[in-house]
Amino acid sequence: MLSSEQTPLSLVVLISGRGSNLQAILDAISEEGLPARVEAVISNVPDAQGLLRAKKAGIPTAVKDHRKWPQRELYDQQLIKVIDHYAPGLVVLAGFMRILTPQFVAHYSGRLINIHPSLLPAYRGLNTHARVLEAGETHHGASVHFVTAELDSGPVIHQDSVAINREETAATLQHRIHRLEHKIYPQAIRWLAEGRVELVEGKVVVDHRPTANT
Ligand code: GAR
Repeated sequence: MLSSEQTPLSLVVLISGRGSNLQAILDAISEEGLPARVEAVISNVPDAQGLLRAKKAGIPTAVKDHRKWPQRELYDQQLIKVIDHYAPGLVVLAGFMRILTPQFVAHYSGRLINIHPSLLPAYRGLNTHARVLEAGETHHGASVHFVTAELDSGPVIHQDSVAINREETAATLQHRIHRLEHKIYPQAIRWLAEGRVELVEGKVVVDHRPTANT
């Protein structure tokens, strides 16, 4: 459980690619007074663009290339070692495209969050934008959630949606959802940093009240 007295909240951010959500978090810290500090950025992909964003912001980076530890359990153990060196209050998955072992998830129970481009529990997995269009949905969105052992699942902390336009393509929808993500991820981290949100017995509790959507 996160401590409400921990201000600023220390974060370790895990990425695999572009790192635009990492950038949104960094911008919210420097420009909007988000009470958090990114202690380190870790990538499983050596040339992830997000690593350059971290370096530019003067944040320590580490690469743990999953190809060097083909066994998932061993890889996650390595990852835990690197993360725990920074003793973060919160581990933030920001486009970290790996399935995590139950051991990893349990180790960070209540302080491991993820962002996913869909209105969870709908559309877990990949290519959500194209799948949502194919299914003829009227709305699409993004969710921030506590991580559980199942892929893209776990109690939702924050969610927002957009209406789908007639002329929408997967690319335009992805762009719009990304912009949404850049708002809701820093917002959810703020709630956590302020001690307004916590995970109690597998349910999200906001201001000491359980939410309806968990
Ligand atoms: C984001 O759209 C995020 O929601 C998604 O990866 C993208 C990373 O973008 N994550 C997942 O699909 C997790 N299942 P970014 O590297 O620019 O932040």
